[in-house]
Amino acid sequence: MNNTENKPFFITTPIYYVNGLPHIGHAYTTVAADCLARFKKLQGEEVFFSVGTDEHGQKIAKKAEEEGKDPETFVNEISSAFEILWQKLNIGYSKFIRTTDPEHKKSVQIVLQDLYDRELIYKGFYEGLYCVGCEQFKTEDDLVDGKCPDHNTVPEMMKEDTYLMKMTVLQKELTEKIEKKELSIVPEKYKNEILSFLKGETLEDVSISRKKVKWGIPLPFDPTHTTYVWVDAFLNYLTVLGWDGDKMNVPKEWPADVQFIGKDILRVHATIWPAILMHLGIPTQRMLFTHGHILSGGKKMSKTLGNVISIDEMLEKFGVDGTRYLLMSAGTFGEDVDLTMERMIEKYNSDLANGLGNLVSRVLKVCQNLSIRFNPEEPSVFVDPAMMSEMRLAEVLKVIWNQIDKSNKYIDQEKPWKPEESTPERLQDVMTELLQDILVIAVALKPFLPETSRKIEEALKNGSVEPLFQRIK
Ligand code: MSP
Repeated sequence: MNNTENKPFFITTPIYYVNGLPHIGHAYTTVAADCLARFKKLQGEEVFFSVGTDEHGQKIAKKAEEEGKDPETFVNEISSAFEILWQKLNIGYSKFIRTTDPEHKKSVQIVLQDLYDRELIYKGFYEGLYCVGCEQFKTEDDLVDGKCPDHNTVPEMMKEDTYLMKMTVLQKELTEKIEKKELSIVPEKYKNEILSFLKGETLEDVSISRKKVKWGIPLPFDPTHTTYVWVDAFLNYLTVLGWDGDKMNVPKEWPADVQFIGKDILRVHATIWPAILMHLGIPTQRMLFTHGHILSGGKKMSKTLGNVISIDEMLEKFGVDGTRYLLMSAGTFGEDVDLTMERMIEKYNSDLANGLGNLVSRVLKVCQNLSIRFNPEEPSVFVDPAMMSEMRLAEVLKVIWNQIDKSNKYIDQEKPWKPEESTPERLQDVMTELLQDILVIAVALKPFLPETSRKIEEALKNGSVEPLFQRIK
């Protein structure tokens, strides 16, 4: 993930479907990507960080109809809810793209026309299973008891004239690219999953148009069909850079250095997306960083189970940085992680209110009372860039919290609130050391808790601080 060339480091998040309001899963990926983007920027790298919404297709059209709204009004409302949430969560993205943007639509049509002209797209017939929830074609092997395991629904049988994109011809080359890590899939287990799929099955040509779906981008060479929503969606990763669809004109930020995705959308990202790029002669993305899902109390969140943790509720209870911290410290990024409200409240109180908050307020209060002078040294950065590149975010936070605990123990042991038990010189030394520790901690926290970090740095300048985190019940 090191960027030695003269190109901005390009990070993408999936663009989310606007069939419903944003939820904790969307926030999880986006906050993680934001932490990496902020870290890279702090290292002095130029970064392009893209987010956005995926707005076409059957699922969204159906939902708009259920809500009694025309699709345009419906997608506008939900897309802006995503934008508002990213602002609340302090996501420092470079561009928010919507697949209903006219420039995006135009570029998608240019790509499709080009592939059609070169016979990489051809007219055919498709018969198979389709899960509208996933907006993906399914094989019998993908199903559990005849149902899509992600949506718990029976997929519909699709029998349609359709246009198909050639995939089988690319199978060998794609497999090699993944093996050689030209397209690196991490963590390793996800790479193995894709390689065993590519080695075990024929990569079938994929249907890239729908006749029955009206809410989509019309095929330029046959407007009675609309573009398959995934093809439309993948191209966002280029159009977000202002790409006009001309393969000779690829933006300087491309290829994407890291594309963050959840495990449920890995297969399409590792097959259809690189295939489009390979057909166009454009380099494939460099890395697919795959993460697991957030579970609640060991189970998938669902309204029926009543275990849904709402992102708005988290923001209300824990604030922006509290929410960011609890999401990023929840567990190993590539694995499923489990959250419950009770455990999060406990963690918020112990790590943020008692741990970090208490350290900063105690140190500053003593310094105020004793009129301690502080001439900060250039803070040493102790976050390991390799750990960040491997997205070991929970571990990085652990390292920072070890330092916080150490400093808290130090102040407990030195008891500077009892100055009569020490000498002025000793007190000045102890407090300077603690202030310097706090500065180092604030710098390390920048990518994760940007607002808190800013408040701490300001407090160190002004010598006073409001409580950073209030204990909650
Ligand atoms: N629109 C497509 C992506 C197109 S990208 C070219 C899509 N959208 S989505 O709204 O369904 O969001 C999917 C993303 O959210 C995936 O990365 C998925 O893994 C993530 N999450 C959805 N539920 C999740 C959890 N419970 N936990 C963590 N992430 C999960 O798919």
